[in-house]
Amino acid sequence: MTEAPAQVAETHWNDVGIDYDKVLNTDASNVALLSAAVALLPADVKDLLDVGSGTGRLTKLCRDALPGARIVGVDPAPTMVQAAREKFAADPDVSFADGVVEDLSLFPDNSFDAVISSFALHHLELDVYATAAAELFRVLRPGGRFVNADQFCRVMGPVASQERALDILDLLTAKARHYLEHACFERMLLQVDLLPRFMREDGEILTTPEYWGDRLTEAGFEQVTIVSTPPAELYNRVVWAVKPAR
Ligand SMILES: C[S@@+](CC[C@H](N)C(=O)[O-])C[C@H]1O[C@@H](n2cnc3c(N)ncnc32)[C@H](O)[C@@H]1O
Repeated sequence: MTEAPAQVAETHWNDVGIDYDKVLNTDASNVALLSAAVALLPADVKDLLDVGSGTGRLTKLCRDALPGARIVGVDPAPTMVQAAREKFAADPDVSFADGVVEDLSLFPDNSFDAVISSFALHHLELDVYATAAAELFRVLRPGGRFVNADQFCRVMGPVASQERALDILDLLTAKARHYLEHACFERMLLQVDLLPRFMREDGEILTTPEYWGDRLTEAGFEQVTIVSTPPAELYNRVVWAVKPAR
């Protein structure tokens, strides 16, 4: 059995306590965002990295879109990695490793044609973004693309500032209502259970999409682009960028 990395204790996703795939798949907006991200991958990708791959839901969509590609997922939660491994047990070109986006030392420079991620990178502390962006840049080949689908917010600032707290509260309330009306009761409950973490920035730290975009630009990425996906009240976005060709 692979030894768990030190970061595991820091992610609550190791003990999510629900049938993650079943509950998440009731949410059409989640599937739509993942599909929008996959649609932004170039068709000729041969080597793909999925960071924060979880149970492999996004990985599965990537595999369907890129049947000839070699795909690697990394995630710090052993229970999620195990579920992903079971899902792809019959596919020799899809593998999973314990790891975090801010330390991709498992992979040499210029290893991948593309890196993709969904609903994972808002777990990063703000002071880790620059390191994560540099790692993503390093493992991509020249001309390679990074595609990040995630939930975002509209206001940055100190955790207790009223403007920021109101923005997060409004977004999370809208999300919970949306999930109750359009997904299922358990999806709404997951959102409500996570509310204290979002409000305290305890492992769930929303940023503006521009915050990610700026870190990518600083790391050397070009063509940084922010794509909105419906419904508007969830404030989901795909942020993608390209490592310059030589
Ligand atoms: C909400 S799940 C999303 C999983 C999957 N991408 C999906 O869309 O279903 C978030 C995942 O991010 C992982 N994660 C947390 N911190 C991370 C980090 N620093 N680097 C990479 N993944 C991380 C968690 O372990 C968890 O599996």
